[in-house]
Amino acid sequence: MRRSLAIAFAAFLAGAAAVTIPHKMGWGQIALVALAVAGGALAAGLAARLAVDERSRREVEAARRRLVASVSHDLRTPLASLRLLVESIEDGVVTGETRDRYLHEVRTHVAALSALIDDLFELSRIEAGDISWTMSRVELRELVGDTVAAMRAPAAARGVTLAAELPPHEVMARANAEKVQRVLFNLIQNAIRHTPADGSVTVRAQTSPGGVEVEVADSGEGIARGDDKRVFDAFYRGGEGDAADPDGAGLGLAISRAIVEAHGGRIWLEEAAPGTRVRFTLQAGT
Ligand SMILES: Nc1ncnc2c1ncn2[C@@H]1O[C@H](COP(=O)(O)OP(=O)(O)OP(=O)(O)O)[C@@H](O)[C@H]1O
Ligand SMILES: [Mg+2]
Repeated sequence: MRRSLAIAFAAFLAGAAAVTIPHKMGWGQIALVALAVAGGALAAGLAARLAVDERSRREVEAARRRLVASVSHDLRTPLASLRLLVESIEDGVVTGETRDRYLHEVRTHVAALSALIDDLFELSRIEAGDISWTMSRVELRELVGDTVAAMRAPAAARGVTLAAELPPHEVMARANAEKVQRVLFNLIQNAIRHTPADGSVTVRAQTSPGGVEVEVADSGEGIARGDDKRVFDAFYRGGEGDAADPDGAGLGLAISRAIVEAHGGRIWLEEAAPGTRVRFTLQAGT
């Protein structure tokens, strides 16, 4: 930063020298002035670029630090519980049914940790451009129908109605079915999680002029205005500090965005009141 300030100052001096040169100048002097002005302009441009480079370097560094802090926190909390559970079992403090319950909790924590690490690995692979999926023609009505059917039980357990609204004609996308299903699972899981009992979640798919469009809409609490830009960031959970959503790692939407963009599509929050409406596009499967 200090370097770019010094260059900007040098540029200012060069420019100032150029405009204060007296009237009677030969061509040599004029050329010198022109050089000084051009040099000043170049230096000013370089200074601006350096300032931008410096800012983006600092932003990347801050994002990296936030990421490491989030990962550490998300690993440390279940690990601390695991240590306590395992120690109690080892010391023989717990027996019988309690021991079985503790073992079940150990299994749950291990599964959650594995899922977190898989998600992180997947995200970093996609973001590094390591995409080795096969793409084919995928009939979205079928994929949406199957996914909705698989999520009906968890929705019903929370008293939420889950439905698919699909057109009578085929909706063909060029995609990797498994990855698109992952996106659908993430969006439907979020919708169910944030919709109170008696609410509804609707999944729609249709052809659009640019390809195909899929939407997951819910009648839940919605996303606060300030959060709408950040919800797609890794580890972002709604609310601050203790109010942050405790149910997930904050990776679902980040992974969904990475998958959709790797397909050449786009994902965004559509205006919805009340509730939330997440929409994404894919290329048409021809
Ligand atoms: N349908 C929704 N309604 C209200 N808030 C939502 C909805 N979907 C996402 N959010 C908000 O966006 C945040 C980020 O969502 P995301 O799916 O990335 O993470 P998560 O659900 O918290 O964790 P994970 O998906 O890793 O289990 C959520 O914590 C929640 O605050
Ligand atoms: Mg989620």
